Amino acid sequence: MNFNVGNQIVLKNVGRVLVISAFLLASCAWADNQNEVFVVKPYLQLGDHPHLSKPEKLDVCWFARGNKDKWAVESRSECAKEWKKNAEPVISVLENSQPTKVYNFDATISDLAPGAKFEYRVLKNGEEVFKETATARKNEHQKFRFVAFGDMGANSEGQKKVAFQIYQNKPDFIVFLGDIVYWNGLLNEYYEKFFPIYTTTSPSEKVGAPILSTATCFGVLGNHDIALSDKDSQDAVSLDKFGDNALAFYKVWNEPLNGPLTDWHQPSTTKVKGSEEKVKQFLESTGNKFPRMANYSYDYGNSHWLVLDANPYMDWTNESLRQWVEKDLASAKNAKWKFVCFHQPGFSFDVSHFKEQRMRLLSDIFEKTGVDIVWAGHAHDYQRSFPLHYTAKSNESGKMSVNSDGTVDGALQIDSTYEGNKDTHPKGIIYVVSGGGGAKLYGSIKEKDPNIKKEFTDKFISDTYSFTVCDLSDNFLDVKQISCDGNLIDEFKIDKSAGAQDHEHK
Ligand SMILES: [Fe+2]
Repeated sequence: MNFNVGNQIVLKNVGRVLVISAFLLASCAWADNQNEVFVVKPYLQLGDHPHLSKPEKLDVCWFARGNKDKWAVESRSECAKEWKKNAEPVISVLENSQPTKVYNFDATISDLAPGAKFEYRVLKNGEEVFKETATARKNEHQKFRFVAFGDMGANSEGQKKVAFQIYQNKPDFIVFLGDIVYWNGLLNEYYEKFFPIYTTTSPSEKVGAPILSTATCFGVLGNHDIALSDKDSQDAVSLDKFGDNALAFYKVWNEPLNGPLTDWHQPSTTKVKGSEEKVKQFLESTGNKFPRMANYSYDYGNSHWLVLDANPYMDWTNESLRQWVEKDLASAKNAKWKFVCFHQPGFSFDVSHFKEQRMRLLSDIFEKTGVDIVWAGHAHDYQRSFPLHYTAKSNESGKMSVNSDGTVDGALQIDSTYEGNKDTHPKGIIYVVSGGGGAKLYGSIKEKDPNIKKEFTDKFISDTYSFTVCDLSDNFLDVKQISCDGNLIDEFKIDKSAGAQDHEHK
């Protein structure tokens, strides 16, 4: 304000200040009020929409108490004035045990232009209670940016810094590579160590950032997400013990349901145990997501993604499961890029996890079907393998197996000439571990001893929290590993453009 001029101008400026102040107060009240309106603020999921479509679809999910209120989701393209109403949310019970039951709301926005920015808002009883901007899934001609990282939900300073850095990078979508919340993948752990950090409306290094409401997010099932770290639950997750909190992965995430439909009473799936009532409530609240959603696939732009459950109960020597993997990857004929994600890496040189090699059983299928990169977490560090080929040994009847110590016998062939900058043509699949998302780091001691690295290890960084950010434009992929302080700590590129050397796994 300038008080050295006439009264008219002073009054005009005072009025402007009052208007701005009123707007700021209203905004603060709106933000403060959100914690009363929502148990968990709205976040974006792909839902059961594995394939590109025109128009595009995305799901908005949130948690709230009671089911008597009238909820609605409206959306509009960035330049439009009019809001469009979407179908009413699907509602399921999350927590039976609360005095007022907590419900999961899932509304599909179904009229999005591929790759276009849009606004969406949530209305409660006709009043706007949440508004955000995001980008619809890209089509096969549009470039995109994604982030991959794992092992995050520990409520650590590193987790918050990583969240803030991811937000600064503005990804279109984010893959959470498992061990999403510690220690047991429980709903109350999501409330404490996940949602407050990734849905905050006050982004900062000290708090986190709203990455769940601004990017489409995908979850991968890790060992800490199924309570198997609990000694009492080695064979099954106890619903009597964990109640409504158990196996929150199947309640929080809404992903495509196109995986193999395994029987949850049988091996090769997560199992639950408990009283008849508890099992009934659990199955009602997870719907048809349990246990199917542990394995799924989806398309994004010109890439195909396959998400797998790498937990020990999965038998990846099982022929029907292997056939499903091969069929899924082989049928993605229009995808120029193929990526596979699971939590426990088949190639990790760290002492804790080196012998957990069972996912090497699928390397032959990945190679046959043209997979470019396999992403994993589990080890709380960053590892990049040389491009490699691996053929697991089969017995006389042609069956592969895992040794009693977890290792898998086989033949390894590496492309040690690829360095990802001048040479952008890897001869083999690159296996990345990006497990520095927030859980306690494994430390840098091993990094300094070159003798401890395995022959397949190209890069290894474990003295900082970090995440992977990738830019994919047609035939060109640029992969960067960024520290929680925003520093570039590794980078590699793959070029498949015409005139470039053939990208072959031979
Ligand atoms: Fe893990």
